Amino acid sequence: MAEAPKLFFAPIAVPGSGVLVVFTDADLRFGARTRAVLGSALDMVTRAAKADRFTGKSGSALDVVAPAGMKVSRLVVVGAGKAAERKPQDLVKLGGAAMGRIPLAASDATILLELGDGVVKPDAAADVALGATLRAYSFDRYKTKRKEGEEPAAKRRVTLAVADVAGARRAWGARRGIADGVVLARDLVNEPPNVLFPVEFARRAAGLRKLGVGVEILDVKAMTKLGMGALLGVGQGSARDSRVVVMRWNGGKKGTPPLAFIGKGVCFDTGGISIKPAAGMEDMKGDMAGAACVVGLMHALASRRAKVNAIGAIGLVENMPDGNAQRPGDIVTSMSGQTIEIINTDAEGRLVLADVCHYVNTRFKPAFMIDLATLTGAIIVALGQEYAGMFANDDKLAERLTQAGLDTGERVWRMPLGPEYDKMIDSKFADMKNTGGRFGGSITAAQFIGRFVGKTPWAHLDIAGTGFASSNSDINKSWGSGWGVRLLDRLVAEEYEG
Ligand code: BES
Ligand code: MN
Ligand code: ZN
Repeated sequence: MAEAPKLFFAPIAVPGSGVLVVFTDADLRFGARTRAVLGSALDMVTRAAKADRFTGKSGSALDVVAPAGMKVSRLVVVGAGKAAERKPQDLVKLGGAAMGRIPLAASDATILLELGDGVVKPDAAADVALGATLRAYSFDRYKTKRKEGEEPAAKRRVTLAVADVAGARRAWGARRGIADGVVLARDLVNEPPNVLFPVEFARRAAGLRKLGVGVEILDVKAMTKLGMGALLGVGQGSARDSRVVVMRWNGGKKGTPPLAFIGKGVCFDTGGISIKPAAGMEDMKGDMAGAACVVGLMHALASRRAKVNAIGAIGLVENMPDGNAQRPGDIVTSMSGQTIEIINTDAEGRLVLADVCHYVNTRFKPAFMIDLATLTGAIIVALGQEYAGMFANDDKLAERLTQAGLDTGERVWRMPLGPEYDKMIDSKFADMKNTGGRFGGSITAAQFIGRFVGKTPWAHLDIAGTGFASSNSDINKSWGSGWGVRLLDRLVAEEYEG
């Protein structure tokens, strides 16, 4: 499993060893306790800052080795920018920035949680801990050698020095489940496809049972009985059996319609008979990032005992070329009864989602459905890797997702839907075809899914650009980003709990 250093909360005190990280506001404004801890070294820090033209701008840092008058081996000053410009979310980033400045060779480090305008409150301390935890994540399960000088993560301790230790521990207790959910999602995305195939993915999702999540696994026989011809067609070329996993968290009032989250879980996407080019194909182990996010989200909701009823449903398949694989030209019948002409076997995600969305909608009658999928290369062309594409049949849901995106930094950009685009997937031979041509590729993919959600408020998030291989940030150095867990947890917490 991914190793990360241990985090502790302790009272603010002068550290006797290790690395010390402190924060400063712009114009080198230290908090009173930070000044007290720095003591006589403060003057030297001021001179070093001047020499380095360090002013405490957000994102910058000043490194002082063996500061005179202190027992620590290294002092790092991290810039927190202007207090007036700080958004709540910035504390998560600051936690990441602070953790990023602690050398891997350090076995003992202290992060002093005070900003220029005073000590941080418990909730803010938990935000810093969240950012620090996410930054420290690294997927090294398959590395048999450590870099020279690097301490094993288990031996590394990071102390968060806070004014209110009990309060911070309590707040972190509630926030920690979110960190664990993101880490779980990242682990799943990073795992190689020979290890994480549908049955193994389902087994890992079943691990949520220990948090009180109900987990049901549908095997091929059960799916055949339900008539999930669209999903099963994708998996039929693989030696690995397909699965659907349904996770249920009932933390809300009995009888309230659940919120439903649905994930594309293509454990490996070769393209099938419409095979992909070789270059970069290894990235297609991440084609289950939507499903990974749903599992991570359910973990987060359950471990913080969210007061909400939620369903997580994931369609797990492997898309392989084979003598038994589906062909371009095949016509399959989805669980909804609608027929689909396969034009390109590489447009497989929408086929999986079609059946899972219909199943969830008819069985659970959810208050809304949000699906996540690494669905189209076209969304990367449109939006790059900063925003996920959002498609919705409901303005309120779209607005709420947009706001949650701004609050968490996992941003979504709304794209259009409409009958003109829907026409593009009409088929000569069946009710629809599975591709709509080169133009508006992400939109026609969304239109396709839209044909399987009935009148239920629905949003589709195309995370092909954000789910993996996205740019590194203060809180993520991992290939698999775990994108969407914080976004959807926030959406639930802000709009649907209590
Ligand atoms: N999984 C891919 C989309 C993808 C591409 C995700 C790159 C992440 C990075 C999806 O199954 C796919 O192959 N989509 C095709 C659709 C086309 C055949 C209509 C695509 O985007 O080219
Ligand atoms: Mn594909
Ligand atoms: Zn795919």
